[in-house]
Amino acid sequence: MDEDAAPWLFLCDPQFEPALLNELGIDGGAPYTLSPGWIQLPHAPERQCLPAAFARQTLPAALEFPIESVKRGSKELAENIIAFFRKRAEPERWRLHVIGPDLASSRVQLIEEHVRRLLKERRRLLFRTLSADTAENAYFEGGEALVQIALVHANKVALSIVPDVLNNPVRPCLSPFAAGSIAIPEDRAAPSRAYRKLLEAQLQFGFEIQPGQSCVDLGASPGGWSYVALRQGARVLAIDRSELRADLMAHPALEFLSADAFRYVPPEPVDWLLSDVVAFPERIRELTERWLSGGWCRYFCVTVKFRGDQNYSQLIEFKGLLRKYAAPFFLRRLGENKNEVTMMGACLTPDQSLRAVNHTL
Ligand SMILES: C[S@@+](CC[C@H](N)C(=O)[O-])C[C@H]1O[C@@H](n2cnc3c(N)ncnc32)[C@H](O)[C@@H]1O
Repeated sequence: MDEDAAPWLFLCDPQFEPALLNELGIDGGAPYTLSPGWIQLPHAPERQCLPAAFARQTLPAALEFPIESVKRGSKELAENIIAFFRKRAEPERWRLHVIGPDLASSRVQLIEEHVRRLLKERRRLLFRTLSADTAENAYFEGGEALVQIALVHANKVALSIVPDVLNNPVRPCLSPFAAGSIAIPEDRAAPSRAYRKLLEAQLQFGFEIQPGQSCVDLGASPGGWSYVALRQGARVLAIDRSELRADLMAHPALEFLSADAFRYVPPEPVDWLLSDVVAFPERIRELTERWLSGGWCRYFCVTVKFRGDQNYSQLIEFKGLLRKYAAPFFLRRLGENKNEVTMMGACLTPDQSLRAVNHTL
């Protein structure tokens, strides 16, 4: 199958279809909206539009089947999965997501049960390498494939298989969680609910702050992100005009600087740039470019906040910027983001950046 010529499916929050279509370079959405939250393009989008920030989950090159009976449809799905992996080396690990408009719908659950049972009966080896779908199993492993089955209508199902996700160009579009959705555990000791955004970004995009790493947290008050970084063993320089919660201010691994986030220049490169500053997207883009082009950090997690739907068109410029200075990079409106998107990634060295100018996703 020519993967660029096959349909691509995108799942988004129902009110975000117009924003997503616009992001994908499509004017007027009716023929592309399958049902609330489901967008289908007849072919792969232009690479510069990816990753689609407003898509919770993406199903690249998705083959479609009518599904009149769960039993017959599941059989066809299982046969296609087996055939796909027979043509390639079977993966050491793979995960299976069966999703629908409503994950709990009985039809979705039935399809998943049937497909799993058929695979177990017909291809025991393949079944054994199926990863458990749990929160502990958040990160894609080397060589792991992602198989997604989507019930896009009561009688239509789509199958998308991405081999070796970590080395696949579509990796930034994929969530390791079914339908891109993960529940962040409640932590009543955190100083604000913003801690959830950083935790979700880490889980969705596969980054951890390592003990001993240095973090600059811009717009840090009241301290949710600093709290997460400290809990993960980092040393934190928190910058804001307002102080953080008292216990964080007194933490031995935290230094507080009352300063303007946009004027701060680190005296030496740090491991992590964290930024949750409230500012216009243009200013966040300039700030991100200064940090990434200057080689001031190795990794970054930065939110971009919007007002209404103005400025969504700027996302393409953010993607261009990230493509130039980072690999891998991610940009997505996460479950914990309201009208904002989160960018996260690893910075390229200046040498790699020069070579990345022509790099496509
Ligand atoms: C959304 S809050 C950050 C929440 C924080 N990440 C947390 O987890 O608790 C945005 C912060 O950005 C700060 N801020 C806005 N403009 C700033 C600037 N120019 N310099 C420093 N901080 C700024 C605000 O004072 C505010 O505390």
